[in-house]
Amino acid sequence: MRVFSGVQPTGNIHIGNYLGALRQFVELQDENACVYCIVDMHAITVPKDAALLRENILDVAALYMAVGIDPKKSVVFVQSDVPGHAELAWILMCNTYTGELARMTQFKEKSRGNESAPAGLFTYPVLMAADILLYDSDVVPVGNDQTQHIEICRDIAIRVNNRYGKVFVVPEGRFLKEGARIMSLDDPVSKMSKSAENPLSRISLLDDETKIRKSVMKSTTDSDGLIRFDPANKPGVSNLLNIYSAFSGQPVSDIEKKYEGVGYGTFKKELAELTVDALAPIRKSYEDIRRSEELRAALKDGAERANAVAERTMARVKDFFGLGAK
Ligand code: TYM
Repeated sequence: MRVFSGVQPTGNIHIGNYLGALRQFVELQDENACVYCIVDMHAITVPKDAALLRENILDVAALYMAVGIDPKKSVVFVQSDVPGHAELAWILMCNTYTGELARMTQFKEKSRGNESAPAGLFTYPVLMAADILLYDSDVVPVGNDQTQHIEICRDIAIRVNNRYGKVFVVPEGRFLKEGARIMSLDDPVSKMSKSAENPLSRISLLDDETKIRKSVMKSTTDSDGLIRFDPANKPGVSNLLNIYSAFSGQPVSDIEKKYEGVGYGTFKKELAELTVDALAPIRKSYEDIRRSEELRAALKDGAERANAVAERTMARVKDFFGLGAK
């Protein structure tokens, strides 16, 4: 299978990103042809400081490798180093309805009807569709906040295929049972996010042990004292159970049994230690990789390999559409 996914280069990559997406990237890379992108052009849909963006690109590249993505097995590269993404996005935009973009919940949330919301925020899902379709991807491992984006990508691909012939492979999203949606620790009815103001709302992959422990111990639960998975009535405890399950590989029902009659304090303490142990090796290898000269070389090599595929796809797409002089 061909696998594609991407992460935006912003700071604060957290355990939601890891448990929902990055850990799938690693799991898939041995048996499949994987392409993992750092989507810097998506990042500028919100104004960014240029120097910081450059740093964040390298930060995410180093994190990719620190969690176990091997740039020799997988193609790892930066989106703007491959012009095909923007080129294909334009062609897809001509096959996307403004109505379907206006219905995207992420756009509605971020623009809130503001007339000066950037057009790039509106067409964000089309660039994402281009990312995926450019590599003839079969599978897209993501968290479930991306469900609507995968759906519109499929709709666009099917529409183009109906109009022009067998242009694109129609991809599918890949979501994990535990981890697909990790919630905020201080407000467990909203998802854990990179940009939330309160740093205790998330556990970043590079947090030190003190910060990890503090975030878990201070997380919002409830007052009934039962460790039971019930997202509707007990969102905080259910979220912690989910995180526990994702890090330990144990089914939620086993964890519920293990902590029957035990207080939240003990449960949280053990979850904190589990998280500390899971993240320690990532943090350690990150420091070495981030400093190494090989990081940039790996991205350059990745961009060359990605470009080779992208150029082939673009030549095919242009033929289907009759674009260019031949
Ligand atoms: P981004 O950078 O916001 O997030 C990266 C990945 O992390 C997942 N994720 C979560 N999973 C579980 N719980 C959470 N709280 C959580 N928060 C984030 C996301 O689902 C994602 O898989 N639009 C994408 C980037 C993108 C992309 C693509 C992804 C651009 N082009 C092509 C796949 C294919 C985004 O903003 O992800």
